[in-house]
Amino acid sequence: MKLFKLLPTRRLASGVLAALSIVLLLGGCDRGPKSGYGFTLPQGDAEAGAKTFVALECTACHSISGNKAITQPQNPQMTIALGGQVSTIQTYGKLVTSIINPSHKLAKGYPETMVAVAGRSKMRVYNDVMTVTQLADLVTFLQAQYQLKPFIPSEYAPYQ
Ligand code: HEC
Repeated sequence: MKLFKLLPTRRLASGVLAALSIVLLLGGCDRGPKSGYGFTLPQGDAEAGAKTFVALECTACHSISGNKAITQPQNPQMTIALGGQVSTIQTYGKLVTSIINPSHKLAKGYPETMVAVAGRSKMRVYNDVMTVTQLADLVTFLQAQYQLKPFIPSEYAPYQ
């Protein structure tokens, strides 16, 4: 009897799931004219990226977790840490966007007044001074500064 009552909800749930996966499949890989699909920078050079990071004075506002070779910023009001252990991978696309369009998505974990003014990032816009080579090198350098936190599954008590 109980099983009978459960059945319609279960069916509904699987229907919803099926519909959702179709939406995700169609929407997930957005290949519309404005999507980033197909975008790739030329291969960067991490060593050159580290030098560019210092030369363009990214170090005025950014520290790099655990990287002692990089001068640490003297700006306690606005020091944004890059690199270190993260739970979601810092994708190439996210890094490029953070650099060339900083206000698109503000860094998480900071009070908005610290990182933005009226929704606009306080980060300097480099688009008229940075070369594409510098951008590619910076992204290659920065990506290597992030480590994905190992996934630790929750331990459940055995089901009795
Ligand atoms: C004047 C200060 C300032 C300078 C200089 C600066 N940034 Fe930023 N940056 C910020 C602030 C503030 C944020 C956080 C708000 C945001 O996400 O735009 C940020 C965010 C970022 C993020 C995203 C971090 C995250 O966790 O989402 C990256 C990547 C980054 N900056 C790279 C750079 C690079 C590379 C340079 C040098 C070419 C640079 N920044 C120069 C202030 C600065």
